[in-house]
Amino acid sequence: ATTNARSVELDSISSVPSETVDINWDNLGFGLVHTDYMYTMKCSLGESFTKGELVPFGNIEINPSAGVLNYGQGLFEGLKAYRKEDGNILLFRPEENAKRMISGSERMCMPSPSVDQFIQAVKAAVLANERWIPPPGKGSLYIRPLLMGSGSVLGLAPAPEYTFLVYVSPVGNYFKEGLSPINLVVETEMHRATPGGTGGVKTIGNYAAVLKAQGEAKAKGYSDVLYLDSTHKKYLEEVSSCNIFVVKGNTISTPDIKGTILPGITRKSIIDVARDQGFEVFEKPVTVDELLDADEVFCTGTAVVVSPVGSITYLGKRVTYGSAGVGLVSQQLYSGLTRLQMGLADDKKGWIVE
Ligand code: COI
Repeated sequence: ATTNARSVELDSISSVPSETVDINWDNLGFGLVHTDYMYTMKCSLGESFTKGELVPFGNIEINPSAGVLNYGQGLFEGLKAYRKEDGNILLFRPEENAKRMISGSERMCMPSPSVDQFIQAVKAAVLANERWIPPPGKGSLYIRPLLMGSGSVLGLAPAPEYTFLVYVSPVGNYFKEGLSPINLVVETEMHRATPGGTGGVKTIGNYAAVLKAQGEAKAKGYSDVLYLDSTHKKYLEEVSSCNIFVVKGNTISTPDIKGTILPGITRKSIIDVARDQGFEVFEKPVTVDELLDADEVFCTGTAVVVSPVGSITYLGKRVTYGSAGVGLVSQQLYSGLTRLQMGLADDKKGWIVE
């Protein structure tokens, strides 16, 4: 899956700045850093995207009656670029993000860029902002593709025009805990998604819907919230921004994909990495009881990578996992995945795009 990154057309901009950036690479969190360029491409409803361009990163102009602002017609993606010691820049499974955007766009009644257009746009945005990619081992360049109904619409209907946009920002760890275990609380009243809804696609509204429970949890000192299914209120769904895994002996279980949880690309990759490491992995309904009885728990996501969970609080009862440190399984899987993503391990599966 290796292609020549230099073949990407950067002809829509006059120059890529080469001066080094004034940034403390040792102090990166997960916050927006303004970079140089973003990629943008537009098309009308019923048509296909054709050609996009790189433009300076900055505010966009949008009509107050745009579909995305009024009716939430929007999707986003998240992926990362890593700088290797030898200077190469690596993307991890970008075609998976492209395919997920295409399936989400069908659910949200939007046209989508093709897999090839998506990957070319991502490559162009990364190369135009090359100086913002952290040095090896210091973080990554987070890539945020957006697809939105940017055309005006007043009555409820798909917007007449769509904008695909890719911006980037250097990032470090997602949780303030860094690589230390996070503390989750199980939410029993508010739900993230319902059967038949849009919980399984990366639409922007799914993320606004979790802010209230997340804010309440943070105010009580928790790192984030773990959601339950809305029908039985006993099966695990996902954390606000990532998928969940429970470990018991040599067995790892994670909620199966049935339309209410996000089909995470890190989730899918960790299932493969864990099987390669000799674990038995099940994608199935996982109960709260299994969670509370687990040896180890961890979360996965592009932003969070593999995040160990130190404690879960359910109906006021707190269960802790392991001693103070990171569980062995989480550590082993984190290392297996990140070595691949950073180009430190043999890419036997063809997951890396240079
Ligand atoms: C990601 O992990 O890339 C996401 O899209 C989650 C987001 C809330 C940061």
